[in-house]
Amino acid sequence: MTHGPRYAHVTGWGRYAPSQVLTNADLERMVDTNDAWIVQRTGIRERRVAAAHETTASMAAVAGLRAIRTAGIDPDEIDLILLATLTPDYWMPSTAALVKEAIGNTRAAAMDVAAACSGFVYAYATAQAYVTSGLAKHVLVIGAELLTRFLDYTDRSTCILFGDGAGAVVVSGSDEPGGGLGIEMTTEPQGAYMIWLPAGGAKSPPSAETIARGEHYIRMEGKETYRFATRTLASTALAAIRRAGLEPGDIDLFIPHQANIRIIEAVAKGLDLPMERMFVNLDKYGNTSAASVPIALAEAVNEGRVKVGDNIVIVAFGAGFTSGAVAIQWTADPARGIAGDAAVNADDVHVRLPVDWDSVDPIPAALAEIVNRPVAPGVEIPLDDVVPGEPDIAHSEVPA
Ligand code: ACO
Repeated sequence: MTHGPRYAHVTGWGRYAPSQVLTNADLERMVDTNDAWIVQRTGIRERRVAAAHETTASMAAVAGLRAIRTAGIDPDEIDLILLATLTPDYWMPSTAALVKEAIGNTRAAAMDVAAACSGFVYAYATAQAYVTSGLAKHVLVIGAELLTRFLDYTDRSTCILFGDGAGAVVVSGSDEPGGGLGIEMTTEPQGAYMIWLPAGGAKSPPSAETIARGEHYIRMEGKETYRFATRTLASTALAAIRRAGLEPGDIDLFIPHQANIRIIEAVAKGLDLPMERMFVNLDKYGNTSAASVPIALAEAVNEGRVKVGDNIVIVAFGAGFTSGAVAIQWTADPARGIAGDAAVNADDVHVRLPVDWDSVDPIPAALAEIVNRPVAPGVEIPLDDVVPGEPDIAHSEVPA
């Protein structure tokens, strides 16, 4: 066994959110729901919807390249690409393999990680293990989801919750102390059918019958999931914090999975911490599953909420029932992130398609009007996310 550096640091971070916004008012016109209910029960005000030309791989590639630019390394210095998703482009090849080609990497091993909303945290922990064992020097860890194509827009209990996007970090080896210091991961399979997508796999291959039954959409027992989340998130975070030799009061900022504001409030209460220590952006993006933690992390750092030397905790829960947390001592210059984001224009990143194959229109009928309406220039990364005094993002994305 090779012995590697003692520590694994976050050296790069980046995110991508599609331009089109799906508001609570839009959903009011689609299902029997209302803005007040959604805001009060979840905290969500709007989410992003990928355009027809976008896929999980394309969003992941943009976020991944931005993280690589932030780290100041060449794409070919990445040794391993780990991509967490529950909405891969295809069953095979892995979405990570498509991303590898799109970012111009020739050397890396690439694989997907399936742990639903905990996927990014699981992938991060895997990256840490690769780096500290000496098997990889730089690992690109991505969480990317295109959930709006797997939702039943007649089911108000699920379609209001989820959105699309991608976030990424580069994890790099170093003998300087810092980086990921404590990890906890759990899986409780008795909760396996509380959030699931019944058809399309080996147990229930896709057929006209499974589609007629709507079994290709995400199903969820909201109350059971809520109970699991509130019970598990604080205990998982606490285990990671203690493994790092710290106490909750030592943590400067928590980056929790952005599922529901009430769940995040319960975590704060469980750890006896004020809400100011919890980073929240679910009002803008909804639940983006495996993408939620890395989008929130990149946004928190770019907004100036994380300083060198701060202790942060990433923590998530999800289908499976899985949960995971990593306590990280932040060591990178936070100012690098905004430049890294601006260095990569999403229109310049391309995922290769097979030449002889025409895909069907991927946009759900319920979202066709929303995806096709004009987008305000510059909406890709909201300007209020940009640290005051920094230049505006130089490009905008208006779907053709
Ligand atoms: N608009 C209006 N009313 C609604 C809506 C809606 N969108 N959805 C449900 N309701 C109604 C219900 O029908 C119910 O009506 P009734 O009392 O007449 O029967 C009432 O509102 C209350 O419904 P509950 O399900 O009890 O509402 P709750 O407060 O539990 O909130 C929610 C539901 C938001 C789904 C919550 O349970 C939750 O957030 N659960 C966790 C979900 C989650 O985080 N999932 C992500 C998992 S991660 C992954 O891996 C994918």
